[in-house]
Amino acid sequence: MIYNKIDDVQAFLKSQKIKNKSIGFVPTMGALHQGHISLVEAAKKNNDIVVVSIFVNPIQFNNPDDLKKYPRTLEEDSIMLKEAHCDLIFYPTVEEMYPEEAIKTYDFGELEKVMEGAFRPGHFNGVAVVVKKLFDIIGANNAYFGKKDFQQLAVIRKLVELEKIPINIIACPTEREADGLAMSSRNRRLTPKERPQAAEIFKALTYVKNQRAQYSPQELEKKALEFLAKDFKAEYFQIVDGYSLQNISSWDDTNYPVACVAAHLGSVRLIDNLELL
Ligand code: PAF
Repeated sequence: MIYNKIDDVQAFLKSQKIKNKSIGFVPTMGALHQGHISLVEAAKKNNDIVVVSIFVNPIQFNNPDDLKKYPRTLEEDSIMLKEAHCDLIFYPTVEEMYPEEAIKTYDFGELEKVMEGAFRPGHFNGVAVVVKKLFDIIGANNAYFGKKDFQQLAVIRKLVELEKIPINIIACPTEREADGLAMSSRNRRLTPKERPQAAEIFKALTYVKNQRAQYSPQELEKKALEFLAKDFKAEYFQIVDGYSLQNISSWDDTNYPVACVAAHLGSVRLIDNLELL
């Protein structure tokens, strides 16, 4: 079932909630891959009804070209979701999601000042606005997000806390290709030459994880950036505390170190991260 209208989605879900059915929700921007499907599968395991939204949210793109080039593949997405036994696809228009109204500004403090927040001004506010709207529309019990967007996950947890939204946020592991490249809708824009090069990001992350005992966080950040410089224009490679997302200067600063990276390969901007536990 594909619904475009908020009223239709809500009418259907109301009829399910009356029967005490639990709702699992997977928000997406479409161009689905196995990473998204693993979220649907996780939702399917623990909920009676699974809803997936497909909405390329214009207000989270700080680069108009990126928005224009974002892949839109509704037909393939619907087939994949049917195979994964998704019960309802919510596929609204921009007008349906954003009738004329003021767009709220959130304050996520230090969480949004680093990494993606620093390089993509306004991005997390756009994500928070749409996710809050989607949560309000669906009224799910559980929502599923991939750890690939590590900072997004932290911002959404903060949003739920700030807005006191009654929903459980479930973090799911990053799905990877055989060579380690994190699955992403943007991967399909890599050229045949770039595609194998893209896996070097995972090599850098794995190297850092394996060398943790030998070097300081700063030394490893430097080595990773040097390694990536061959093929990529890296924006950042940072080892942070996985809760606050702030840089650590020594391994003793955290019990949850995570390496996070964003780098351009040709015209494609890739992000990834690895828990260094
Ligand atoms: O991760 C994404 O695909 C998007 O940021 C989300 C959460 C669907 C909001 O548009």
